[in-house]
Amino acid sequence: MYLRILLGVDSLVDLVKMLKKYNQEHLLGFYDELDEDGKTNLISQIKGIDFELISELYEMAQKGSDEKTDPSDIQPMAYTDKDEISSVNKDRYKAIGRKICENGEYAVVTMAGGQGTRLGHTGPKGTFDIGIGKSLFEIQCERIRNMGFNVPWYIMTSKENDADTKAFFEANNYFGYDKENIIFFTQRMLPMMLENGRIVLEEKNRIKEGADGHGGIFRAMIESGVLGDMKRRNIKWIFTCGIDNVLTRPNDLMFLGYVSEKGSMIGCKSLVKRGPSEKVGVFCKIKGKPSVIEYTEISEEMANMRDEKGNLVYGDAHILLNLFNISVFEKMGGRGLPYHVALKKTDYINEKGEKVLADKPNAYKFEAFIFDAFSYFDDIAILRVKREEEFAPVKNKEGEDSPKTALELYLNADK
Ligand code: UTP
Repeated sequence: MYLRILLGVDSLVDLVKMLKKYNQEHLLGFYDELDEDGKTNLISQIKGIDFELISELYEMAQKGSDEKTDPSDIQPMAYTDKDEISSVNKDRYKAIGRKICENGEYAVVTMAGGQGTRLGHTGPKGTFDIGIGKSLFEIQCERIRNMGFNVPWYIMTSKENDADTKAFFEANNYFGYDKENIIFFTQRMLPMMLENGRIVLEEKNRIKEGADGHGGIFRAMIESGVLGDMKRRNIKWIFTCGIDNVLTRPNDLMFLGYVSEKGSMIGCKSLVKRGPSEKVGVFCKIKGKPSVIEYTEISEEMANMRDEKGNLVYGDAHILLNLFNISVFEKMGGRGLPYHVALKKTDYINEKGEKVLADKPNAYKFEAFIFDAFSYFDDIAILRVKREEEFAPVKNKEGEDSPKTALELYLNADK
């Protein structure tokens, strides 16, 4: 009855017809049991879903996800080793970077919309403390604040963690940073799907959605008005990073000057893979265009290939430390990047209304990757940096890339 009042009879009929068409009528399976808020929320979630896109993505997932790249299309990508830049040139680049900041042309975007499922921390990942009495957000804020330029700091959240993130900043008095220069924006969400093609109901009144990947930044910046805000402020260079690397250096003036001096529209930091089997994406050219190829997509032979000095030919890992000229966001426009699929573990409500606890990955999650934008450009500047100086990610609860390993690296590195 309530549904009729909310939507009007015609739209109710349309909605049910539409759900049937996409084989998703189970989403309203428990509708009559819900209270008014539950009904409203569920309907608003359903109305926000692009069912055509979701069924295309499901088909892609069924086919075995991403297509493999033809090895003959892949070539190595040139890079510059930071260690090989003379100190005179480093100082010159720093001065260029400083000028850009003094002119108010630099901004930072922290992508903090992920779910942090592997870490399993309650609350946004940026609120996590690796054991130094500071959250990941605070560590990043300190580095930006210490630059002394009042750099605009944009923080990308998702619908899932936006309110908690904002509340955390408020409760911590924005870490002493100018509140006017911290701007939050949200990225799109996509529903997760069980392997049988049904969208996941995580509760009878709620669809399980996940942020659409760090590649969602391009759309999100336009849809949220962030790009317009940057243009009004005359921003020219935007450093983008995640929230979970405690050695992220948004204050690296040398990198800023280096990329702008090279005339590249995109600059990326890379580091040498620990070995051929490390599970990271590496820089390369695909059909002549700059790209990052996932470890799952590269042949063993290529992963092991070495040059005359014994270095891996495809050995420069992408670590989500990228600098973009604002023209990149303009050129990308609202263009969506291709989605990749991953199988994740998620609990769900079955058709009988029972909660099923997942004991293995059972649902598809769709995500776009920021590096898929690189191939829209002819060239990017890659600066190879040192792992111990720039990369200490917090991904897992324990073991590799955990709070323990990140803490050790953090304590040993320059702050
Ligand atoms: P990861 O891909 O490592 O994901 O994100 P995650 O959410 O932190 O952790 P898992 O995979 O669920 O365990 C790298 C960075 O990109 C951001 C994350 O917040 C993190 O800072 N990210 C990821 C987004 O901002 N949005 C997304 O949709 C995905």
